[in-house]
Amino acid sequence: MRFRALGSLLLSLSVVVADAAEVEMHFVPSWSGTPLLLDSLRYEVPGGATVSVTRMSTLLSGFALERSEGGWVELPSQFAWIDAARHRTSASLRGIPAGEYRALRFAVGLDAGTNAEDPARWPADHPLNPAVNGLHWSWQGGYIFLALEGHWRTRSETPRGFSYHFARDANRTLITLPVPLKLGADQSAGVSIAFDLAALFTAPRPIAPSRDGDSTHSHEGDPLAAALRANLPGAFQVREIASRSSVPAAPVKPLHLPSKFTPYRMTFSGKFPIPQLPRDNPLLVERVDLGRRLFHEPLLSRTGAQSCATCHDEKHALADPRRFSVGVDGQVGRRNAMPLFNLAWKSSFFWDGRAPSLREQALMPIQDHTEMDERLDRVVAKLGSTYAADFARAFDSAEITPERIGLAIENFLLTLVSADSPFDRAMRGAGELSADERRGFELFFTEYEPRTGRVGADCFHCHGGALFSDHQFHNNGLGDAHDDGLMRVTARDADRGKFATPSLRNVVLTAPYMHDGRFATLDETIEHYDHGIVRSATLDPNLAKHPAAGLGLSAADKRALVAFLKALTDPQYSR
Ligand code: HEC
Ligand code: HEC
Repeated sequence: MRFRALGSLLLSLSVVVADAAEVEMHFVPSWSGTPLLLDSLRYEVPGGATVSVTRMSTLLSGFALERSEGGWVELPSQFAWIDAARHRTSASLRGIPAGEYRALRFAVGLDAGTNAEDPARWPADHPLNPAVNGLHWSWQGGYIFLALEGHWRTRSETPRGFSYHFARDANRTLITLPVPLKLGADQSAGVSIAFDLAALFTAPRPIAPSRDGDSTHSHEGDPLAAALRANLPGAFQVREIASRSSVPAAPVKPLHLPSKFTPYRMTFSGKFPIPQLPRDNPLLVERVDLGRRLFHEPLLSRTGAQSCATCHDEKHALADPRRFSVGVDGQVGRRNAMPLFNLAWKSSFFWDGRAPSLREQALMPIQDHTEMDERLDRVVAKLGSTYAADFARAFDSAEITPERIGLAIENFLLTLVSADSPFDRAMRGAGELSADERRGFELFFTEYEPRTGRVGADCFHCHGGALFSDHQFHNNGLGDAHDDGLMRVTARDADRGKFATPSLRNVVLTAPYMHDGRFATLDETIEHYDHGIVRSATLDPNLAKHPAAGLGLSAADKRALVAFLKALTDPQYSR
């Protein structure tokens, strides 16, 4: 058994190499020379089809610069993750010796050694941390080198999805670009590089989704993956080279540390990626204890009758077994309460992601008229007499403020970790799965790609990884006309019907299912994915690529999937 402890006060050290130059690369996802517009079904590809791109995410490695006089300066252990939808388009190369250079080389994908390494070793903000890039194949091992997803249609057809996942050691592809650079010591330069997806679809090997298939997982001998590989080198073009001005560092926020405190040691499974904890709210035993008390404190509600735990029930992985939670005056909400665990790995909260941090999230239900319906100044006044000493122990004074209430609850919520289930035990050799559970595991993690003879249930695209969630937003075909999900927050049409992917750990405890609790059982949920998907413009490409008639899972397959989901239950979360 391998469990890791994470000191919460870890400081990340950045090593400064004296006399070294820096190159900032700026990648511009493009289509035929103009910046790519995501989610827009307008781009022509071979075979008379039109495509949109909803996701373009790639891992680059093997950076090197060629000296003008010849010879390569290798920059090993520098990696870049580029993602169009998540606006991650820049990456820096550091520690470059001063000098004159004429070319830049890098690889799409990782070398075999790095690709096979344990992904849980990477620091919280590292491009190879699976929680950062969402490109690890999870339990099967290895990374996706390039994920390209979107919709396509020919004139006559209703839109379908395509999902190209370019991976495997043999497909690592080298790109060399002419980049003349003169770098003095301590200087930096910026290089703008277009990644042209039109070129990726056309030359030298045209890719027509209508003819060549709408899904690839790059199995050996797959011609679609071979075409992507052939086209990649021509898809990158240098646009601009410039000297770069430096960006001032963000001011450091105060930590409000009391004079005496105990750092809280967070422990979790060795399979989990390292989470990005908030630097300005270190985990302290005193603060976690205060947060736990506040979570159970009915004084946070106007009537004094309801605490957070009223809707987040400890017997149900801190979810609510009722379809809709009920507020202080019996008001019924519109969404199903979410379970609370492994929140340290999330970067936005609620089904529609409207809370950007847990400290902000925590104050919302207190003030929500359909929930606890209380004013923050009144909460502060009510806590005054009984809580002063607890706040003094957790912060640098006894002052009670809404901000500190948020920080303490955030501290507590971050420590809720669920990593122990029969599945985890089997994965570390301390138990065994039944034949049904193993079959369910296989179906869950196998793609639906009849072209290559694979007809799995394709669940891992969104529910993969050690946390059983990609922590992204997707439309999974529920067709809810009353709740636009993420679109309510972003006001973008392309986000209609997208909701946060829930973790499937403890899922048997968190019924009913989906944001509106529409499914009472896991069986109903599986029926939905098998043949109940409602098609729409924003349906996720990974589901839109399934045939209109559905996946066609047999009764035995469905039973196996449910058996596997039940094996994800952590006994700690049903007490
Ligand atoms: C009246 C019932 C109710 C109460 C009381 C309540 N919650 Fe919730 N909670 C919900 C519902 C419903 C959602 C989902 C709402 C949505 O997405 O719009 C939710 C979502 C959350 C989430 C988001 C989890 C995620 O994965 O994104 C967190 C965190 C949370 N609640 C914490 C709290 C805390 C802390 C309190 C007390 C201060 C609290 N809740 C009180 C019903 C409740
Ligand atoms: C395209 C991404 C995607 C795929 C593929 C996918 N899911 Fe989901 N899943 C989601 C999202 C998003 C939600 C939440 C949707 C909502 O509530 O509106 C969800 C919700 C669920 C829930 C409800 C969990 C809860 O706590 O309410 C279960 C169970 C589930 N999925 C199982 C599966 C299974 C089994 C498969 C494979 C057959 C699968 N999913 C495939 C994205 C996906």
